[in-house]
Amino acid sequence: MSATTTPFPKAVIFDAYGTLFDVHSVIAAAEQMFPGHGDALSQLWRQKQIEYTQLRTLADPAGAPGAHYRPFWDITLDALRFAARKLNLTLGRAAEKRLMDEYACLSAFPDAVPALRQLRDAPAPAGGKTGSGASSTRPGLAILSNGNPQMLDIAVKSAGMTRLFDHVLSVDTVRAYKPSPVAYTLGTQAFNAEPREIVFVSSNGWDVAGAGWFGFTTFWLNRQNAPAEELGVTPHGAGGGMNDLLAFLKSLASPGRNSGAGSTGNPGGSRARHSPGA
Ligand code: LAC
Repeated sequence: MSATTTPFPKAVIFDAYGTLFDVHSVIAAAEQMFPGHGDALSQLWRQKQIEYTQLRTLADPAGAPGAHYRPFWDITLDALRFAARKLNLTLGRAAEKRLMDEYACLSAFPDAVPALRQLRDAPAPAGGKTGSGASSTRPGLAILSNGNPQMLDIAVKSAGMTRLFDHVLSVDTVRAYKPSPVAYTLGTQAFNAEPREIVFVSSNGWDVAGAGWFGFTTFWLNRQNAPAEELGVTPHGAGGGMNDLLAFLKSLASPGRNSGAGSTGNPGGSRARHSPGA
């Protein structure tokens, strides 16, 4: 097969937590346990969880990568304990277990499965090849997440996403959290692709920035209508829901366009197809 029949993008890779799974679906249970504090607990829990992942990877000595790594599940529990303490909430064993059980099977955003099915079932134009090597021109589909494999397995199954992905990639295999380039490399390796040939989708501004620095073509699924990060890197596309992503992918695949959003090498700048936050 000649290179010209390779679809663009070769693959679409999704962040998991906050992008496909609603981390704040724990608010209802948290509110029941701690009336008036559910939202604050959920927000601080998530913030500390991300902070701890970044700190642990950042602090790894040059000669000992992964030295401070702990699985995402453990970090999630650490972050919950800190957040409760910070908010002066008494977190007994039972409350802790209930919240962690909720976290294990977070609700998927309602637009996630229908859009993934649409991508999965994309028709196969003649002569093409998928990024995953199957016999269609649809892009390969994957998750690339900080979540450890057991967490991702349960989340994917409970959201009914089994069989929708070619790969569920966990940074656990490299013991380095996003936005370390070591973590994003899992995506290029899985699809044997250049970074720009992959569209990386995340709701997290910091994750989109990291993916852009890595060289991925990026789509910011701005579910929270958040302001753009001040990191000097602009996503190639942005929108509030999966339909915006589907439109962005369609625009990339349209005839007459060049080989990819990242074909000029710079993921920042003026090529965003939707306004961030739109
Ligand atoms: C993930 C977190 C960072 O799924 O959202 O990787």
